[in-house]
Amino acid sequence: MLYPQEIIEQVIEANNIVDVISGYVKLTKKGSTYFGLCPFHNEKTPSFSVTDNGDKRMYYCFGCHAGGSVITFLMKYENYSYKEAVKVLADRAGIALPQPVYSREETEKNRKKEQILSVYKDAAYYYYYLLKSQRGQMAYQYLQKRQLSEKTIRDFGLGYSDKYRDDLYRYVKSKGYTDEILKETGLFAIRERGVYDYFYNRVMFPIMDTRNRVIAFGGRVMGDGQPKYLNSPESPVFEKRKTLYGLHIARRHKGSELILCEGYMDVISLHQAGFSNAVASLGTALTASHAAVLKKYTSKVVLSYDSDSAGKNAALRAIPILRDAGLQTRVIDLAPYKDPDELIKAEGSSSYEERLQKARNGFLFEIDMLSGSYDLKDPQGQTDFYNETAKRISRFSDEIERENYLKSISRQFHLDYQLLKDRTLWLALHREGSDSYEPVPEMRRPVRKELQAGAAESQKMLLSYLADHPSFYHRIEHVLEAKDFVSEPYASSARILFEQLRRGKVSISAIIGSFDEEEMQEEAAGIFSPSDAEPEAGELQRLLNDCVIRIKRNSLSRQLEEETDLTRVLQLKKEQEQFTHLDLFA
Ligand code: UTP
Ligand code: MN
Repeated sequence: MLYPQEIIEQVIEANNIVDVISGYVKLTKKGSTYFGLCPFHNEKTPSFSVTDNGDKRMYYCFGCHAGGSVITFLMKYENYSYKEAVKVLADRAGIALPQPVYSREETEKNRKKEQILSVYKDAAYYYYYLLKSQRGQMAYQYLQKRQLSEKTIRDFGLGYSDKYRDDLYRYVKSKGYTDEILKETGLFAIRERGVYDYFYNRVMFPIMDTRNRVIAFGGRVMGDGQPKYLNSPESPVFEKRKTLYGLHIARRHKGSELILCEGYMDVISLHQAGFSNAVASLGTALTASHAAVLKKYTSKVVLSYDSDSAGKNAALRAIPILRDAGLQTRVIDLAPYKDPDELIKAEGSSSYEERLQKARNGFLFEIDMLSGSYDLKDPQGQTDFYNETAKRISRFSDEIERENYLKSISRQFHLDYQLLKDRTLWLALHREGSDSYEPVPEMRRPVRKELQAGAAESQKMLLSYLADHPSFYHRIEHVLEAKDFVSEPYASSARILFEQLRRGKVSISAIIGSFDEEEMQEEAAGIFSPSDAEPEAGELQRLLNDCVIRIKRNSLSRQLEEETDLTRVLQLKKEQEQFTHLDLFA
């Protein structure tokens, strides 16, 4: 943690959240809450709320679920780091900040990160300079041949890495970096025989994080060499599975959708053609972490992957990942062109726009692909297709969603609506009713996931009810500890909230403010987000009781998995049994 908890609380209290946000968003008071148009997504009716009473000093958007404290707001809106946001707010209120309290380890880690970032910045500058110099002429011509404008080259900071084996090394060395740091950047192989730059005679694509800092590079050969693209290795500042190329620009896009494509050039051509909402995952398939990052900026994604079979398969893998993250997904058909870059070159941006309009629902795309692997003329093939389709539809927990898919799929694939519906219903009921997992391999994953999602849901519910009803804490205190909460932000939120409850003063914004990553702050805000349905007293007690049981059992089975000591195992088993019949309010 950067600053002591009291200081953060002091900064939050001294900066009235309504005043601060009013500087950016026009707010209107309704009851005890203020509402306005959400600055983080495009909307016509206000769903962005700001609350400033007592414990809850927070903002929350019912549309895009952005939420957090006054600190989070500035981080998100102004693109500040946690430290910068706290500094601005402290200055605004005339509070003097103490020296940040990092542990020695943290200080060392941060110092290193900053130096690595600084090397990347210098390298990007150098590559850009080379591209514009005599030495980069070939590379410049290559980019011109690919029809990139001067502005695009500048916006994306494209560059050139020269042919000499240690050209970049000599440049950054002259800036005074140590070999120790340079090694960690991954941009050099430092050997006894000499130093070799990682990139050599390539067009360079700096990869930026959402704060416009260069964290990695992609480098393309000019022509047909192999590998076509080389990506700099992971480093303390670069995690492939979280990084999306182009997001530093796309994040400012005010539309409601982001376009997800495969490569550097796709993103760049799309931006040049006016689609500044395009991003790409780089050199790796889409991961759940990518999806979580996307979810921070949008609720809708249009997949614009290559039209070849590799691209289609990649789309099939991406769709469930996006769906699990709660993103609505559509798929663009680019045929007969291979990728967005080619389509735009051949037919222009209006043609891409048309295809964007026509993009198909992701689930229908999946079923369409699925239909290709069955022989629908053969009765057995038909039966199998019915079953598989029904199985997939049955996984939607929302009835309306299921119904809509039943209708459009039966129409589109000439399946009997009633037959498909009966099958789907049977599968859905069968799944919910039974405790044991179905032996079908594909079924295992979703069922397990739901259990985990359930655990998160219970933790969230319990924390938010406790924050609203501190008087219940004494019932729970002796049963539940913060360590029963798994994964962040639940564990830390529980630890701080319990501490606050013992002191008798709840402050949600202090809990949110205790996380220094924006992502975590938003998730923490999600825990305590205002809910419209407040259960009645009796109902509330039952809910709390259920939550405690679920959290505790979950925690115990986790401990059981790790425990090797037999006596402890037996003890834990006994506790587990006790918790089945817990009644806190008896
Ligand atoms: P593509 O080969 O489709 O790239 O690979 P592209 O963007 O269409 O390239 P151009 O138009 O020929 O220049 C898609 C993405 O996969 C990664 C890169 O991130 C690339 O943008 N890739 C591809 C690699 O990491 N290494 C490779 O050798 C090839
Ligand atoms: Mn291409």
